[in-house]
Amino acid sequence: MNSTTSMNRFSCLAICGLALLQTLVAGINVPYYFQPAPFTRRDLSVTKVQRELGPLLSNTSAIFGPSDARYDNATERWDAFLTPDVEIVARVGQESDVSIIVKYCNANSIDFMAVNRGHAITSTISSFKGLQIDLGLLQAIDIQLDAKSAWLQGGTYGGLVVDYLWDKGYVATTGSCACIGLMGPGLGGGHGRYQGLYGLVSDNIISLNVVLADASAITVNSTSNPDLFWAMRGAGHNFGIVTSFQLQIHPRLVDTWHYHNYVWTQDKLEQVFEALNAFHGNGTTPVLMGSNAGQFAIVPNISETEAMLIWGFGYAGPAADAEKLLEPFNAISAVSEESGDVPFPEIAHLQGTGLEDATCQDGSSYAGSTLYSLVYNVTAERQIYNLFNEKIALYPEFAAGASFLHEGYSDQAVVAVDPASSAFPHRDEHHLLYFLLAMDKGSYSTDAAWQWAAEVRDIWAAGQPTRLPATYVNYALGSESLESIYGDEPWRLERLRSLKAKYDPDNRFRYYNPFVL
Ligand SMILES: Cc1cc2nc3c(=O)[nH]c(=O)nc-3n(C[C@H](O)[C@H](O)[C@H](O)COP(=O)(O)OP(=O)(O)OC[C@H]3O[C@@H](n4cnc5c(N)ncnc54)[C@H](O)[C@@H]3O)c2cc1C
Ligand SMILES: *[C@@H]1O[C@H](CO)[C@@H](O)[C@H](O)[C@H]1NC(C)=O
Ligand SMILES: *[C@@H]1O[C@H](CO)[C@@H](O)[C@H](O)[C@H]1NC(C)=O
Ligand SMILES: *[C@@H]1O[C@H](CO)[C@@H](O)[C@H](O)[C@H]1NC(C)=O
Ligand SMILES: *[C@@H]1O[C@H](CO)[C@@H](O)[C@H](O)[C@H]1NC(C)=O
Ligand SMILES: *[C@@H]1O[C@H](CO)[C@@H](O)[C@H](O)[C@H]1NC(C)=O
Ligand SMILES: *[C@@H]1O[C@H](CO)[C@@H](O)[C@H](O)[C@H]1NC(C)=O
Repeated sequence: MNSTTSMNRFSCLAICGLALLQTLVAGINVPYYFQPAPFTRRDLSVTKVQRELGPLLSNTSAIFGPSDARYDNATERWDAFLTPDVEIVARVGQESDVSIIVKYCNANSIDFMAVNRGHAITSTISSFKGLQIDLGLLQAIDIQLDAKSAWLQGGTYGGLVVDYLWDKGYVATTGSCACIGLMGPGLGGGHGRYQGLYGLVSDNIISLNVVLADASAITVNSTSNPDLFWAMRGAGHNFGIVTSFQLQIHPRLVDTWHYHNYVWTQDKLEQVFEALNAFHGNGTTPVLMGSNAGQFAIVPNISETEAMLIWGFGYAGPAADAEKLLEPFNAISAVSEESGDVPFPEIAHLQGTGLEDATCQDGSSYAGSTLYSLVYNVTAERQIYNLFNEKIALYPEFAAGASFLHEGYSDQAVVAVDPASSAFPHRDEHHLLYFLLAMDKGSYSTDAAWQWAAEVRDIWAAGQPTRLPATYVNYALGSESLESIYGDEPWRLERLRSLKAKYDPDNRFRYYNPFVL
């Protein structure tokens, strides 16, 4: 049986005809989706949804269930530990389909969740059971006449946007990894290589086309639903589905970025972190040094038992200017290093964050923990490092998949925005600390992995004893406190919850670090 509604003209006719016939037979002239839901569907019938919903959707949409050849691809996730129960996938062909799908779900008491690139990290999405709204086909990008902004559809992602704009002479704020969506990061802030110059992804959002929980399609910007505009720039995953959005774009200014990657052995750890702290000057990182990110990880051809310090710098400009700033790091002798000047779209791959790189691949299971920090605490970093080598001696199976990410960006444009102006609460934080332990299914001790992750978080927290823990919503694993994610000032969660009562009173959007349980 053909279980698809990815319709050509002929199958559309057949299916539409069938739906019409049923309506006539039933003798009802009120469309079913305007009637109150008579019952809750425990198990969704794929064929029934195809028959009822399929004819209402655009001709490039598709509805399919687990037996369809496309299902595995559509529901595959970066983190295989996460287990949302996707009973059925509705792949959206046009923006207008989203509202129709939500209306249908509401009428039939079906829970729904928007998915774009499937890179969510938080365990909270595992509580989902229902219909996945797949936004992946919504990839249009439309640069506006004034060349100051572009309209992008809700299924666009980093690599696509970077490549498209660069070729035409522009850049925009995106995440650093080419594989992640624009709205997944953007609705929670969005850190990336252009944030020092232009701010977070969310700071660059001008307007959003949103489908709310009640299926209404509305515009959200500074003049239309401004209260929701505040909330969706920082806590947006909890409020609606963005079918398209208007984002600022910027002239690209330079033809190449300079990159310089270093591998250091552990005896250089103190020197490296002291140099990094001096370089960052507690929030005054040179603005063109768009990114510096590093990790502790095993490099097998150097050592199987001792993690290396692997660091990469990316500079929006020529080698000579960048290398002047990098002198303190060049003075620390490296096991290996490489540098060069390339067009911006190539930087992602050269720093391990390209579409084809390991970081971007789907399907491993992850344990982990995360925290923001203001400066690097050198004592804590030494403790983290030593623990790494001890753990992999105990659990050699963890060696290949463990990495301690330390992300640093420049902060100038992020700090320049009034923190009260959006729901993003962490403008005063400078570094993203992220321990990731990737495991192949079946070959690991889950308890030992999560135990290690908890120890790491404790060390990072003890390393900033006078500060409350702060968590980036898009890095949260799901067990962090809501205050650490959405902000410690009580007014923030209060405001979010009152907007939730207004825009999503039934809490339909509750799978991504929800603040109403
Ligand atoms: C390898 C990797 C690299 C990362 N790098 C960065 C980075 O450089 N910078 C950064 O800021 N973050 C980064 N993140 C975190 C990233 O922001 C989140 O994981 C984000 O949720 C991924 O979005 P997605 O579309 O890829 O995943 P999905 O799982 O498809 O989406 C995540 C959630 O976002 C919501 N969502 C997605 N699209 C829409 C939409 N159009 N409308 C409404 N809701 C939507 C849904 O609630 C969904 O559950 C990274 C994550 C990973 C795994
Ligand atoms: C699909 O619909 C569009 C209008 O939305 C139309 O232009 C196109 O011809 C249709 N394609 C098919 C195969 O029916
Ligand atoms: C699904 O298939 C498409 C096309 O083959 C591919 O580009 C995409 O990466 C796949 N998605 C996943 C999640 O594997
Ligand atoms: C907000 O959206 C409305 C409706 O589309 C539009 O008229 C208005 O110009 C937009 N405002 C801004 C600041 O973009
Ligand atoms: C860093 O700056 C913040 C204010 O932005 C200040 O509170 C903090 O004490 C500074 N920390 C260091 C180590 O200089
Ligand atoms: C280790 O291997 C990687 C690729 O696997 C290579 O790029 C690198 O140069 C090697 N390093 C050394 C020190 O041999
Ligand atoms: C750095 O971490 C150590 C170990 O947890 C802690 O004792 C010390 O107070 C921290 N230093 C600062 C400046 O916070």
